[in-house]
Amino acid sequence: MSSYRRLFLQHVGQTSLQPFGLEVSRAKGMYIFDHNNQPHLDFDSGISVSALGHCHPEVVAAVQHQAATYMHTMVYGEHIQSPQVAFAKLLSEVLDNGLDTVFYVNSGTEAVEAALKLARKATGRREIIACRRAYHGSTIASESLRSDFEFTRHYAPGIPEVNHISFNDEADLGQITSRTACVILEPVQAENGIIPPENDYLKKVRQKCDETGTLMILDEIQTGFGRTGFMFALQKYGVIPDILLIAKGMGGGMPAGALVANKDLMLTFASNPALGHITTFGGHPVCIAAALATLKVLVSTDYIDQVAQKEQLFRTLLVHPAIQEVRSSGLMMAVALKDANVLSSVIQSCMEKGVLTDYFLFNDRSFRIAPPLIITPDQIRKGVHIILEILDSITATKNSTHEA
Ligand SMILES: Cc1ncc(COP(=O)(O)O)c(C=O)c1O
Repeated sequence: MSSYRRLFLQHVGQTSLQPFGLEVSRAKGMYIFDHNNQPHLDFDSGISVSALGHCHPEVVAAVQHQAATYMHTMVYGEHIQSPQVAFAKLLSEVLDNGLDTVFYVNSGTEAVEAALKLARKATGRREIIACRRAYHGSTIASESLRSDFEFTRHYAPGIPEVNHISFNDEADLGQITSRTACVILEPVQAENGIIPPENDYLKKVRQKCDETGTLMILDEIQTGFGRTGFMFALQKYGVIPDILLIAKGMGGGMPAGALVANKDLMLTFASNPALGHITTFGGHPVCIAAALATLKVLVSTDYIDQVAQKEQLFRTLLVHPAIQEVRSSGLMMAVALKDANVLSSVIQSCMEKGVLTDYFLFNDRSFRIAPPLIITPDQIRKGVHIILEILDSITATKNSTHEA
């Protein structure tokens, strides 16, 4: 056992008793290299983070330049820092839908927390509605939005007045009333195993929110920055929320998150009393310089335009008797296996053979494929070929065990 592996197990907090344990030495483009300098094809993007792959030269240059110019001064929306201003201006132009004010935080869950506070203060209402089998983060309010009591009971009590509806279930929309402060939902349910909206569901949520004066919060923390084939899924599904949440892909590999709303709504935090939400490091100039470089690359290249074609190539190739179905929205994909018992062997074998995939939180039959958008058709073919070979060998082993 390498000394780093031993020290990792001894001193670094782990989230499961079976960590992937990939020992990273460096990463570049589509590949993460291990301690033996073996390349691993990244089919996961660190859970939808590395849209431009690893260490994109323009992101690295922006980080280096900003780190040498200034790092922390003061944030809280008080000092004027050029990366924050430039990113907010460019993002407003890209969105072009009235969501023109960006409040910076450090992560997805912080964006969620701030948005819930903003909704309660702006509406004077308490009730929050979230979707069953959604994941919005791991801090206590975000966990309170989670519907699986088996998990949340260990951390109870969560925040009060959270109720749940089922995603894509129109009948449940009747639960949104004039007592509801906000509805928070993902445009495509990610951790539930990639469940896209059906029958204009998001537009129907929007309409119900309009009728009841409820704020609609769209969590694009996983879908944003090109993942679904549009810069944001709200463009794909034709809806404008009151509050948009972004993180993950935003920072190009650096930690960054934000909530985006119109100026009036965002000003709710600024008075009565002031400092409604504050964060020491939110919008750190080095992270937002990386975010700005990422956004500039995404708007000036055709990576996002290529997503639909690449999605189609994956879908064409991912055909195997062991695969039950492939669900996708752009380059966020779930491969559902006929036999859920082989899921962890498949994911583990992929890693051993140099393809990094991942589990979902709430779907124990499917594995995740969400590669950087820069992936080439050859890399798609290469990675899928390895996956299909693994499925062949696992199916063959199962069959021979059955016959024995
Ligand atoms: C849809 C969604 N919302 C929120 C979060 C929380 O983001 P973070 O881990 O940056 O707090 C995640 C993280 O996986 C997510 O997928």
